[in-house]
Amino acid sequence: MLYLYAPDQQDHYHRLLQEALPDWSIACWPQEVNAEAVTHVVAWKPPVAFFQRFPNLQVIFTLGAGVDKFLHRDDIPEHVTLIRLTDAGMAQQMTEYALYGLLHYQRQMDIYRQQQQVGVWQPQPTRLAKQTRVTILGLGQLGMQVAQNLARLGYPVSGWSRQARSIEHVHCVHGCDALDRLLPETDVLFSILPATDETQHLLDARRLALLPKNAALINAGRGTLIDQEALLNLLNQQHLRFVLLDVFAEEPLPAEHPFWQHPSVLITPHIAADTIPEEAVAQIAANMQLLANGLPVPGQVDRHRGY
Ligand code: NAP
Ligand code: GLV
Repeated sequence: MLYLYAPDQQDHYHRLLQEALPDWSIACWPQEVNAEAVTHVVAWKPPVAFFQRFPNLQVIFTLGAGVDKFLHRDDIPEHVTLIRLTDAGMAQQMTEYALYGLLHYQRQMDIYRQQQQVGVWQPQPTRLAKQTRVTILGLGQLGMQVAQNLARLGYPVSGWSRQARSIEHVHCVHGCDALDRLLPETDVLFSILPATDETQHLLDARRLALLPKNAALINAGRGTLIDQEALLNLLNQQHLRFVLLDVFAEEPLPAEHPFWQHPSVLITPHIAADTIPEEAVAQIAANMQLLANGLPVPGQVDRHRGY
């Protein structure tokens, strides 16, 4: 039996899953079932201790790309296979999000917005795409496609990952020393890194200060990447010109947080790339077939690595 936990869109997912997996018996939270019969779970943001009730659980499919909420919990035994979504329509959305922030900064919409508020008609010097150096943190399923798409549009793109990567027209580097060398050469820093022990506060006060004055930062990965206090200090010193944040250490961002009112910060409520139910279910069904045939499955999470 497959058990579904997706309270926001339960009926929709249930229908799609049942159509894609006609031979499976599918139950939905909070339906009471014979918990011993449940071998597979499809879930997003399951509550604490949710998985404890399923003694014969074999596989969990997440309805998202990031798996941080599925790790460091004691209700998922080591032997359970964790499979996340890979792209499933998110890379296109992530490219749009990155491009929106990039254009807002490069075409100086932040400055024109401020000028408009005080009725100033003042053209700013033209800045071309080829004069706007973009660095992408994370070259996985999403970051790699963002990097390729931005490079195609004429931006000089660098990318940073854990292991060495090679992407056509993208200057790829890895390792912390390389990151420190790259940051001073970056006009727009876009992060699409997962939340792991290693990425926690990777962008601390020292690294953020390596960005050139008037640079921009866009974070669509996870909020734990950034030391938010350090970022606020740097913004208040007018070191960074524009910051677009989709993810935060605490979500929703608390109402009293200074980011809300900061003139250099644009906030979105964790919407950079949404899960598309049709694509997610098609991918889960295909992955179930691969698993059943004993074949490798894309998106299988390395729980020790954290992504
Ligand atoms: P992925 O395919 O696992 O890619 C992760 C990338 O991050 C890889 O390139 C990996 O390096 C790199 N990385 C991980 N730890 C690193 C470290 N310590 N140092 C340097 N690079 C490191 O993941 P994805 O599918 O692209 O998704 C990335 C993240 O986006 C998700 O985990 C999630 O947090 C976030 N996300 C956000 C939204 C949103 O709406 N805001 C939507 C979807 C996803 P290697 O290539 O060397 O392995
Ligand atoms: C959303 O943040 C995801 O990880 O899919």
